[in-house]
Amino acid sequence: MKKPALTSLAIFAISLSIIAQDITLPAPDRKGGKPLMQALNERQTTRTFTEESLTPQQLSDLLWAAWGINRADQKKRTAPSAMNYQEMDVYVALPGGLYLYVAETNTLKMINNKDLRKTTGTQSYVNNAALNLVYVADMGRAGKKEGVKIDDSDLLMSYSDAAFMAQNVYLYCASANLGCVVRGSIPKEKLAAEMGLRSNQIIILAQTVGVAKK
Ligand SMILES: Cc1cc2nc3c(=O)[nH]c(=O)nc-3n(C[C@H](O)[C@H](O)[C@H](O)COP(=O)(O)O)c2cc1C
Repeated sequence: MKKPALTSLAIFAISLSIIAQDITLPAPDRKGGKPLMQALNERQTTRTFTEESLTPQQLSDLLWAAWGINRADQKKRTAPSAMNYQEMDVYVALPGGLYLYVAETNTLKMINNKDLRKTTGTQSYVNNAALNLVYVADMGRAGKKEGVKIDDSDLLMSYSDAAFMAQNVYLYCASANLGCVVRGSIPKEKLAAEMGLRSNQIIILAQTVGVAKK
């Protein structure tokens, strides 16, 4: 029987992991895609996924849509943030490890080599979908030092900021014929520990992304 071919992202990740653990993404494709009104018309939540990976180009485009830099001269992004604090970070839980998206260099910085997809949620579809995004507020950038108490009211703006990012991802997925679901169902304490977050890094939302099962 013919062996299944490795997906392009797997080959890409394996070949890069020989040289370095971080992943350099291809440049995001800032043109094309479906017209906005069509993407809005097709935006929807998906909860059934195949195990297929995204291509490196899809991953780059997805992350750029979520939180990429679209005005390099001002270091501003595809999603708004209150007071332009830019306190949000996007972590990507892939089968090969947990990564932090670094928009400035268009790279995925490896945080650890654990498959944390399962730990990002409480619903079974999170386990095998291509990836899970975790939106984390680094409240250090909003003046909250480690150890300082952080209340829900301190996080209101971060919940808004993450929601804009998640909607960008919904629209990208509609445009690229991918499936996604934004999630509040996250075992936050367990996940924060597995991710090695500091006390002033707060998990806000997660979003599962993958190829929708027809
Ligand atoms: C803040 C927020 C949290 C959500 N959390 C979950 C979740 O934990 N699990 C889930 O399956 N769907 C979750 N959803 C998706 C909603 O259930 C979904 O958007 C809703 O059913 C409407 O469907 P639609 O997105 O296709 O219009 C969440 C949506 C939002 C906005």
